[in-house]
Amino acid sequence: MSTLRAYARGPVLTAPGPRSGVMLRSIGTIRKDPLSFLMQMQREHGSLVQFPVPTPASYFVADAADVRRVLIENARAYDKHTMQYRGLAALTGEGLLTSDGEKWRDARRVVQPAFHHEAVAGMRESITHAAESACERWLHGDVIDVESEMMRMSLQIVGTTLFGADLSAEAADLSHATLQALDAVVNRAQRPWLNAFHIPSRSGRHLRQALTELDTAVVNLVAHRLSQPTAAPDMLGMLMAAHGVEPGQRVPREVRDEIVTFIVAGHETVASGLTWAWHLLMTHQDQYSLLHDAGDDVHVVARAVFEEVLRLYPPAWLITRRSLQSDVLSGCDIPADALIIMSPWVVHRDPHWWPQPEKFVPQRFLESSDARRLAYLPFGFGQRMCIGREMALLEGAIALATISQRVKFTAVENRNVGQIASVTLRPAAPIKAQVQRR
Ligand code: HEM
Repeated sequence: MSTLRAYARGPVLTAPGPRSGVMLRSIGTIRKDPLSFLMQMQREHGSLVQFPVPTPASYFVADAADVRRVLIENARAYDKHTMQYRGLAALTGEGLLTSDGEKWRDARRVVQPAFHHEAVAGMRESITHAAESACERWLHGDVIDVESEMMRMSLQIVGTTLFGADLSAEAADLSHATLQALDAVVNRAQRPWLNAFHIPSRSGRHLRQALTELDTAVVNLVAHRLSQPTAAPDMLGMLMAAHGVEPGQRVPREVRDEIVTFIVAGHETVASGLTWAWHLLMTHQDQYSLLHDAGDDVHVVARAVFEEVLRLYPPAWLITRRSLQSDVLSGCDIPADALIIMSPWVVHRDPHWWPQPEKFVPQRFLESSDARRLAYLPFGFGQRMCIGREMALLEGAIALATISQRVKFTAVENRNVGQIASVTLRPAAPIKAQVQRR
């Protein structure tokens, strides 16, 4: 009823933004190409934009200082109760990515040791091994689908480093289930009535199939660990110890939710970054040659390449929050209960911070800069920053260095590939590469 009254009253406007008519006419673009829409909003209305929707009051925050206020300085005034995270929770339950408050704090404490600096450094060997075995699979002259190869490799890395398990046999099915589930989550967010009225749909069916696949993987991982206990303190061990998993009993909900969270958050994001990295290298031969010829510096160059790729194609292109109390951003009042929309894609293209923002220049990341510190957030900012940040950067650098030393990729079609902004950024067309052994 209150929602209905708010609709009738219309939105209370506290910041500049498009008129309702423009918004209605843009619905197709918002669905198909939300990144262009957000860039357009910033160009036309400035760094704080209010959308003319009555409830919740919805703001797009494009200014890096405002984004830092929401995620760092005044982070207590915001939580993750947004449609984006409710949608993801259909897949991950109340895992680390989607929970808030005490539940989040307790959950983070349990798994944090698995991501300490030394623990991540200990992943080096497994990551190198996964990259080397990918190279061994590819024969000279093979044409590979880069995205599925990167998915397979990053899932193998999550399996060995976090769960002490070899997931290579089920990698294709699990990766497919992850992508299918993420697409279904977005699809359902765009058509909320399907869920609200329990209307059977293709995306609902896909989500259920993917959940079955992921839940089976969880049961197998836990059963395998119970049958072969290990002294190595990996993430699976930490979770099982914290929640008391016993043979013959159902896997506790908390353990299931966290394992699915880490399978989903830990491999598709890295694979997206690596896929865009190969695409950019194949279409920028000068940069590709610098990586090939980097000699002893190959890991330093590879890391700079990966960081620049995450600037141009941040896999997590959308970060949302709900305001718990009123705040002021860019001099405008933000009421409590508002939806805050932020996009690393947009912040990373702000020419104030990033000269020639559309250009692929890994050299930007060879030195420290204010831009890197203040306007670079592929992993978010603040206390909810990605727990896998250091691991992901290590994976990116080792994978690019190892693969570029062993093989050379040539684009099968040298063209500009657009992107699909699903839960992560994916190429709109398959990125195919021909393999030459070096
Ligand atoms: C290039 C790769 C990755 C990118 C771009 C990325 C991006 C992000 C971002 C932006 C957030 C914060 C979301 C927010 O504030 O709303 C996040 C959180 C998270 N990420 Fe990542 N991530 C990556 C890799 C990983 C890996 C490798 C793992 C685990 C193995 C992981 C697990 C998580 C988890 C569990 C959270 C929630 C943390 C919390 O709230 O305590 N991510 N990630």
